Amino acid sequence: MNYSSLRKGILLAGGKGTRLAPLTSAFSKQLMPVYDKPMIYYSITTLMLCGIKKILIISDPENIDLYFRLLGNGDKWGIELSYAIQENPEGVAQSVLIGEEFIDSSHIAIALGDNIFHGNEFIPLLRSADTLKKGSTVFAYPVRDPENYGVLSFDDSGSVVGIEEKPEKPPSQYALTGLYFYDNTVVEKAKELTFSARGELEISDLNIKYLNDKLLNINIMGRGIAWLDTGTIDSLQEASQYIRTLEHRQGLKIGCPEEVAWRQGWINDQQLEKLAANLLKSSYGEYLTKILELNIKDGI
Ligand code: TTP
Repeated sequence: MNYSSLRKGILLAGGKGTRLAPLTSAFSKQLMPVYDKPMIYYSITTLMLCGIKKILIISDPENIDLYFRLLGNGDKWGIELSYAIQENPEGVAQSVLIGEEFIDSSHIAIALGDNIFHGNEFIPLLRSADTLKKGSTVFAYPVRDPENYGVLSFDDSGSVVGIEEKPEKPPSQYALTGLYFYDNTVVEKAKELTFSARGELEISDLNIKYLNDKLLNINIMGRGIAWLDTGTIDSLQEASQYIRTLEHRQGLKIGCPEEVAWRQGWINDQQLEKLAANLLKSSYGEYLTKILELNIKDGI
């Protein structure tokens, strides 16, 4: 069974963005461009590719209106967007408490607004995560700098026995990415969390609860998938360069919500044409017109 009809998405677009200052001094990190589109488009597209149509955007009081101005209520992309404020950046897991009413009786996926995924194997991986009835699915990825992430520790037999948040001495190279699938018990688990030494409700602590219950399903992402983080000046630049290179080579866009909505059948040709008409002077608008003319609906 596919749970995406039941699953809702939470997209985190708050945080301090201190590593990108002064770029982030006036507005939120996830509004920054990653090549030809705002950063948040990539994580919205990730949730949409999973079949999720109801998404709660969480940001800080200063920026939430900007997100609404950019994205609206989701109608134009055939999805439902709602908004909530995180008063202070007190941790990724706090989003579950903020979103309790929105979550209601659903399964959820949480996506960090500064994470970008790409690759052929990504969509099948997403879809298989979505079929999990009970527990949580998270994704691990080998990185050169695990100390900046939640890191897996393994026992001698290769089983995961722990997750350490931003450890000084990382127990492995495997970092957890910013995409998490949870069943509905996530709400009660989040309510049991306490603030960490750095004053946050940690997503790693939430994942440890699932791990301790033997309900944490960890998928390793291989070389065929790119996971890009855009939290530093260099990684932001590298992500833009990566997207630019692929888009130029293939003539296909990465992280284009209009295209995904159209290919999923959530908007029709006329609706896509209207969206394209509003953007015609940009290469983005030209692209929407082009895919409509070619009318090739496979190969997302
Ligand atoms: P981080 O990269 O941990 O933090 P940050 O974005 O504030 O950046 P910096 O370290 O440069 O100060 O956040 C990961 C993602 O989660 C990012 O998209 C911001 C978001 N986030 C929130 O929305 N609320 C929060 O309370 C936290 C901690 C992060």
